This record gives sequence, structure tokens and C-alpha cells, in this order.
Amino acid sequence: MGLFDSVKKIWSQDMAIDLGTANTLVVLKGQGVVLNEPSVVAIVDQGGKKNVLAVGDEAKTMLGRTPGNISAIRPLRDGVIADFIVTEEMIKHFIKKVHKGSTFANPRILICVPTGSTPVERKAIQDSALAAGARRVQLIEEPIAAAIGANLPISEATGSMIVDIGGGTSEIAVMSLGGLVYSKSLRVAGDSMDTAIVDYMRKEYNLLIGDTTAEKIKKEMGTAVPTGTNTYPVKGRDLRSGTPKEVNITEEDTAEALNDIMKQMVGAIKDALENTPPELSADLVDMGLTLTGGGALLKNIDKRFSKETGLPVHIADDPLSCVAVGTGKALDQEETFSTMLSEY
Ligand SMILES: Nc1ncnc2c1ncn2[C@@H]1O[C@H](COP(=O)(O)OP(=O)(O)OP(=O)(O)O)[C@@H](O)[C@H]1O
Ligand SMILES: [Mg+2]
Repeated sequence: MGLFDSVKKIWSQDMAIDLGTANTLVVLKGQGVVLNEPSVVAIVDQGGKKNVLAVGDEAKTMLGRTPGNISAIRPLRDGVIADFIVTEEMIKHFIKKVHKGSTFANPRILICVPTGSTPVERKAIQDSALAAGARRVQLIEEPIAAAIGANLPISEATGSMIVDIGGGTSEIAVMSLGGLVYSKSLRVAGDSMDTAIVDYMRKEYNLLIGDTTAEKIKKEMGTAVPTGTNTYPVKGRDLRSGTPKEVNITEEDTAEALNDIMKQMVGAIKDALENTPPELSADLVDMGLTLTGGGALLKNIDKRFSKETGLPVHIADDPLSCVAVGTGKALDQEETFSTMLSEY
């Protein structure tokens, strides 16, 4: 290998990370998304000594199913790091995994953060990546990364609006000329939808279900506006008898369960519109808003937002990887996007 090749190889190891509360995606410079796994770590307690048992896909299957000495943890909550040590372990594991077979070369890492995160939280994310072996860590705001991933014209003098509904946070942002004109990070997103379904099943059917089951119901049967007539079997524990029980639910049920959350999101979008300068509002009437994040996949969410805000609503292609793709583009085209990156 010549000198140029070895330099190129080290350079190609720079990476972008979408460190999400639900999923972590890693993009290698020039190579696109190379890893996409749940942000879950399983820890085993061996006589007081804690060791990482599994990370990502393997650990997620253990959520809610672990024996006493094992715990499956989601180290990020509400879009921020709730457990630093475990987050660091997770980042290290993923970095090692994508570098399989090649020498580890202290990469430059670009990580996206929710707009609502405080300087202390940003510094913590940066420190975790540095401790995991990064040479230099830069941050990008999540809705900006989402907009870049969705190919919105954010560098131009026109208004673009992103609503990114992740696991922990919903980011609502209006952008123009490469900057945020308005942004709000709502701590109501996919996880809250799961909790709302758990609560609804308890109240309406006396049925106790876990978060994983609730998430499955949301993906397969959840809707923002009931339109289908299928029924869906839900298994759980009867709260009165304590024994396993199965009930059938419909889209009317899930729409009712998710109604309050939809109202909160529409309220936040309306707040954003009220706080947007008139020239940009005029642009949004034509451009509409773009939905990204896993929550964009909730059935009929676009119809509901459009009806209640009066704006056209677009769902980005592949909403689950939009932020990662955008973060990767910002890494690849450093000069174009340099003003949108920050460091603590
Ligand atoms: N088909 C679907 N319908 C509804 N919700 C879905 C669907 N598919 C995935 N989700 C939800 O999307 C969420 C994950 O989205 P995403 O990966 O964008 O979040 P994240 O980036 O990890 O979180 P955050 O941005 O808040 O840190 C989860 O709550 C998941 O249940
Ligand atoms: Mg996200």
C-alpha cells in the first residue's frame, strides 16, 4: 500500500453518528450507513462486577425479559444521555464493530444532538465520544441533519420546516440560510406513544402489557386517524385475575390512545408557525413541512398534521435513516456545511 492509500484509509474512517434514544446509526465517510442498531445495552452483574453482555440488536431482544443478574438498559432517555458509562460502552462497541478488520485510527466523529440539549449535555456527548477513542468530535443539530438528509434547500433564503419524531424527542424546526430560525424540542415522541398505549390498555381493557408489546401495536395497528377496520389481538396480563389474557383491539382504540400526543404535536407545530417571521411563513405555505424520524411512519400522521395545520405535509424517504444520512452528508461535504457544525 502506498503512502497515499494509507492516508486515504485513515481519512475514510471518519464517521458520523446519529446517537438516538431508540436507534443508533453510524455512517462512514463516503460509505453511507454501515450500522443501524437499537440503542440498548445488556449488562450482567457477576458478583458485583458489571460487564457488557450484549449491545444493539442482541440486547434489544432481552428488554423486559432479563433474569435478576442481567439488565437491559437504554442509556439515552428523552434524547439525552441518562447513563454516561453505559453510553460510552455502547459508542465504543459500535465504533469497534464498524472498524472490524481495519486498524483503529482515532477518527473525527460528527454526532447529532437534539436542539433542546443543554451545553452540559452536549459536552457529555462529546466527552463520551472522545473517551471512546475519537480524535475530534463535532456536533450538528438534529433537525438540520434531518433537513440535509431530506434534501431541503436549507442554505437558501427560503423557509424549510422539519418535524423529526424520534423515540425520545420530537424536534420542530424552521430553517433558512443554513441556520435555525425557530426550534423546539418536545419531549413527547415514540416512547410516549408506547406509554400511552400501555396506559390505554390498562384503563380500557384492564390489561397489563409491556413497552415492547405496546411498540409492536403502534407499528402494526397504530394510527393518527382511524381508517381501517381490522382487529388486532393483544396478549397481556389481566389486572384483576392476574392471569394471561387476550383481547382484540381496533384502530379506533389506537387513535384514541394516541390522541393526546397528536394534539400536543399539532399544538407545537402551530406554535412554531406563530413564531416564524411572515416572509418565511409564506414560503412554508407552499413548501409545507417534512416529517422525519420513526414517528413519521405512524399511519395517517401526515393526513392529521395537514388537516390541522393547513400545510402540505411530506414524509421524507426512509425517515428512520434521514438524520444519519444528513449527518453523513455534512461529514462528506465539510466545506458546504461547516457553519452548521459546532464544538464544545
Ligand atoms: N411504523 C412505525 N410506526 C410508528 N412508529 C414507528 C414505526 N417504526 C418505528 N417507529 C418508532 O420510531 C421511533 C424511533 O425513531 P428514530 O429511530 O427516528 O428515533 P431516535 O433517533 O432513536 O430517537 P431520538 O431522535 O428521539 O433520539 C421509535 O419510538 C419507534 O417505535
Ligand atoms: Mg433521532
